Amino acid sequence: MYYIGIDLGTSAVKLLLMEGDGTIKNIISRSYPLSFPQPGWSEQDPEDWYRESVAGLMELTDDIDKSQIAGISFGGQMHGLVILDENDEVIRPAILWNDGRTQEETDFLNQVVGEAALAKNTANIAFAGFTAPKLLWLRKHEPENFRRIRKVMLPKDYLAYRMSGSFCTDYSDASGMLLLDVAGRRWSNEMLDLCGLQEAQLPKLHESYEAVGEMVPTLRHLLGFPKKVVIAAGAGDNAAAAIGTGTIGEGKCNLSLGTSGTLFISSKTFHDSPNHALHSFAHADGGWHLMGCMLSAASCNKWWSEEILHTTDFAAEQAGITALGENRVFYLPYLMGERSPHNDPSARAAFLGMSMDTTRAQMTQAVLEGVAFGLRDSLEIARGLGLTVTSSKICGGGAKSPLWQRIVAGVMDLTLEIPAVEEGPSLGGAMLAATACGEYASVEDACKAIIRTKATVEPEPELVAKYEEKYQTFRKLYPALKGLL
Ligand code: XUL
Repeated sequence: MYYIGIDLGTSAVKLLLMEGDGTIKNIISRSYPLSFPQPGWSEQDPEDWYRESVAGLMELTDDIDKSQIAGISFGGQMHGLVILDENDEVIRPAILWNDGRTQEETDFLNQVVGEAALAKNTANIAFAGFTAPKLLWLRKHEPENFRRIRKVMLPKDYLAYRMSGSFCTDYSDASGMLLLDVAGRRWSNEMLDLCGLQEAQLPKLHESYEAVGEMVPTLRHLLGFPKKVVIAAGAGDNAAAAIGTGTIGEGKCNLSLGTSGTLFISSKTFHDSPNHALHSFAHADGGWHLMGCMLSAASCNKWWSEEILHTTDFAAEQAGITALGENRVFYLPYLMGERSPHNDPSARAAFLGMSMDTTRAQMTQAVLEGVAFGLRDSLEIARGLGLTVTSSKICGGGAKSPLWQRIVAGVMDLTLEIPAVEEGPSLGGAMLAATACGEYASVEDACKAIIRTKATVEPEPELVAKYEEKYQTFRKLYPALKGLL
């Protein structure tokens, strides 16, 4: 049988077709626009997601036996606010995970409602990109739109709704709304009251590997799928990526170098994160995880290469980088503000330390290093909580660069395990679909059967020492510039 994973990303949707034994038959990607209506705002049209996903399904399954397609599931960009009216029409463009418009609402939640009350109800504090502050923003700034809301959903849940008619979500993605009692795996009445919502306006909660319905016949006929196709709940993209890299169970780590950069640590039991600098969320394997998220990771390199250097040949740009650990140029990766660890939507990116002999290669290197230092910030928090992390999986577009792998291993002093298939969220989505269809008895069994490591990158001791010194400088830069840019 075939299983399809749909990774609903920020720059594109990626679709992966997998056979039951984990063999990858096809991968395709289709992009859509991202709009920044004001500095720090970030929106997308859910219709674009649906149209490109359906076109993607056609392309992906073009020359296979479509009667073998058994299930579809998702890994989706998290936290986005998608709202539907009484006719199931999308009310306004989705406000995305990296949108920073809610400083006021975030401050209200953390300071007036209070971090302790939020943490008691949700296991987390408010960050600008989370869904609850967006609802408060909407209630204040677009009251007419707020009044029309009948359904609130997350980006991937919009796809599941259009494809199956099932109004549902999963615990991992719902964790990032700041509306879920994460430890209890149920909606928080206190948070719903605070946001002026009824539970009926929120999707039904499922484990990520549960079937939520079947593909509606109209879509099935359009796609030429002759038999029933199960739709499974899926997961937030980081939890899906963790499944797709085998980061499940107790104390495993995954790094994702995508548009965002995340450090993800799985656990079998619920852990409160004492200072809430890391998110404490449900995992797609039925357990939990802690996560730090930087808002601009591989997107920093994309911005620097494409917008400033006018090249898409990232490898050629990186070929000129020679002296790792010797760079005197620093880059702060805060193009969209920053979530972990600063929780500051107004933070901005910066290059520092240039001199007349600074080269283009050194600036490119600074970008790669700045992102690695940003991830190290989250690792420091995890280590501060007493967690021992010595190795990690790594996935995402940026993780394909051997040079960036070396830099990350050196900056974080971690052994990196490079998965044989680097398509974290879409592979994870396909594995969740396979589990929902009974191909595997559990997510754990699916991981055991499918996930392989193709290489490891060891931290080089000399480089670790050099980067340690650089990191100590890096971590002083944001506090020195805070509020100035
Ligand atoms: C995680 C987060 C990002 C998005 C990217 O909290 O906001 O990683 O999920 O799609």
